Amino acid sequence: DMEGFMEEMGGEISVPVLKGDWDALPANVRKYIAENVRLCRPKGVFICDGSDEEAQEITEKMVNRGLLTKLEKYENCYLCRTDPADVARVEGKTFIVTKEKFETVPHVQEGVKGILGQWMSPEDAEKEIKDRFPGCMKGRVMYVIPFSMGPIGGPLSKVGVQLTDFNYVVLSMRIMTRVSSKNWDVLGENGEFVQCIHSIGAPRPLERKVINHWPCNPERIMITHFPDQRKIMSYGSGYGGNSLLGKKCFALRIASRIAKDEGWLAEHMLILGVTNPDGVEKFMAAAFPSACGKTNLAMLTPSLPGYKVRCLGDDIAWMRFDDEGRLMAINPEAGFFGVAPGTNTKTNPVAMETCMKNTIFTNVGMTEDGGVFWEGMEKEIKREQLITTWLGDEWHVGDKGKAAHPNSRFCSPAGQCPIIHDKWEDPAGVHIDAIIFGGRRPEGVPLVFEAFDWQHGVMLGAALKSEATAAAEFKGKQIMHDPMAMRPFMGYNFGDYLKHWSDLNKPGRQMPKIFHVDWFRLNDSGKFVWPGFGDNIRVLDWICRRVDGEDIAVPSAIGLLPVEGSLNVEGLNVSWEENFNLPKEYWQDDIEETKNFLQAQVGSDLPESISNEVAKQEDRINHM
Ligand code: GDP
Ligand code: PGA
Ligand code: MN
Ligand code: MN
Repeated sequence: DMEGFMEEMGGEISVPVLKGDWDALPANVRKYIAENVRLCRPKGVFICDGSDEEAQEITEKMVNRGLLTKLEKYENCYLCRTDPADVARVEGKTFIVTKEKFETVPHVQEGVKGILGQWMSPEDAEKEIKDRFPGCMKGRVMYVIPFSMGPIGGPLSKVGVQLTDFNYVVLSMRIMTRVSSKNWDVLGENGEFVQCIHSIGAPRPLERKVINHWPCNPERIMITHFPDQRKIMSYGSGYGGNSLLGKKCFALRIASRIAKDEGWLAEHMLILGVTNPDGVEKFMAAAFPSACGKTNLAMLTPSLPGYKVRCLGDDIAWMRFDDEGRLMAINPEAGFFGVAPGTNTKTNPVAMETCMKNTIFTNVGMTEDGGVFWEGMEKEIKREQLITTWLGDEWHVGDKGKAAHPNSRFCSPAGQCPIIHDKWEDPAGVHIDAIIFGGRRPEGVPLVFEAFDWQHGVMLGAALKSEATAAAEFKGKQIMHDPMAMRPFMGYNFGDYLKHWSDLNKPGRQMPKIFHVDWFRLNDSGKFVWPGFGDNIRVLDWICRRVDGEDIAVPSAIGLLPVEGSLNVEGLNVSWEENFNLPKEYWQDDIEETKNFLQAQVGSDLPESISNEVAKQEDRINHM
């Protein structure tokens, strides 16, 4: 069995420690490293301390190797181009391993292929791992990365130790998490930490040609999670969520499972604070699927005078009710891994400023003067500038094809965001007043509406859908269900997850109000009916006023809509009708489709509280 196998692998370390003090590590950490050294056979072990000098040393090596290009136009910024076969999260190769299948996935309807999580048996996982990991780091260095999700030592924070054979991952983890030797002193009960084992799957001598100095093994990618052992094993990819294991694997999949057991929430949500002209601040958490606007909303520059938005996080929230019944949220991350295309000084000046120093750009274009370029930056460079595309080709604005990959990213420290909130590292978190769900919905969905109550809001989250984006391997513009924006990140049975959410509503708790937004509705000529970006403050303002109980909402079949004129559209050339009309036929089809989806995919695990809400919504729509 796997445990016996790993036991044999344990013991003292058999290769040189290239950096760091082996004997200073806690005994269980030494055992963990040693057993994975015997499994992966690296040529040496490099224990990271998270210092700037360490990063400098690694960066220089990578520049010399050609994996990083210094961007001369900015301060301490680098460009990385991946193997074009390794550009996004690979959901089809992502698994949760538990003894009991239905701990991980719902009892789907007979004959239905489940899409809410993928289960693998421990036996199959053991086989797949033995097929990949033995010797997978031969000829490479194993980096040991001690990191904290959340402020180091905070009551809501958790420690992980990532082992990786890819230096790009070391530099990225330093930005995205808190990497520090201090983490050795704040491990959990009994020295607990989340085990994060990552290999690009390219031992030497190489069997596959390395492209762009980016070794990987795309045909054999496999990302496995063992929630019971608090362990992640990821193989074959160096990209984003596949390799920066603190992010999706730990902070969402493993953490959501821990959160269920411990009564809290680990969610795919940004966190922001919005202050109105009277100086009153409210905090919101918003769940949108990948590449649907979280980073942009979190960094919003208000188009209305007197308002201020400050950012606490752009991707993940860990939330827990405190003793006073308030929902408190922290951002477990320390950096932003933001979508580059579409970002510019008009749409998101804050992100542009954030990424102009200490940033790693991946798969964007480069201008001849050592700057970055991507789709959406056409007005920010001289038109005749020569650009090198993410594929290494020469290119000019107006030429065929794209300069940047649609899922190209900037990876920047959160602390340097000009509107970062002074409480962003408060270990206690901030008090969430409103939760917002949204996705890319080209048709039928109003700009904003409010749930009637908590149960209705949970149903709206369960029914979340969006057009597919480039963040994962899917192609085309199909509308996909992405319940709670968590479909790719679910750590356990989605029916149990919905029940957990429903059960949070207890006497004595101040339940946040729940809202649904859509920035992406199109009109008959295919244009966005809402300007979005900085003008989204107008929607946040309406939400704040609703949290204060202002009488500006009117019931509709799908939820509470803004009373006509109550949402400030002054100075905008937008049609209220195009933004807020509810086409009855569209919603009849939609609720039918949603009902079928939940019955098919969550099956007998669907809580009654949700099916009741769906039935009530259907009835309301039929009476529209
Ligand atoms: P995230 O992956 O959820 O963080 O999404 P981002 O904030 O990075 O945005 C993804 C893409 O959606 C980018 O190309 C943005 O320019 C675009 N986007 C974000 N907010 C808006 C908006 O309000 N309106 C429109 N039309 N596009 C948006
Ligand atoms: P985002 O995060 O697209 O939600 O910003 C990265 C991802 O989900 O892969
Ligand atoms: Mn995300
Ligand atoms: Mn983002």
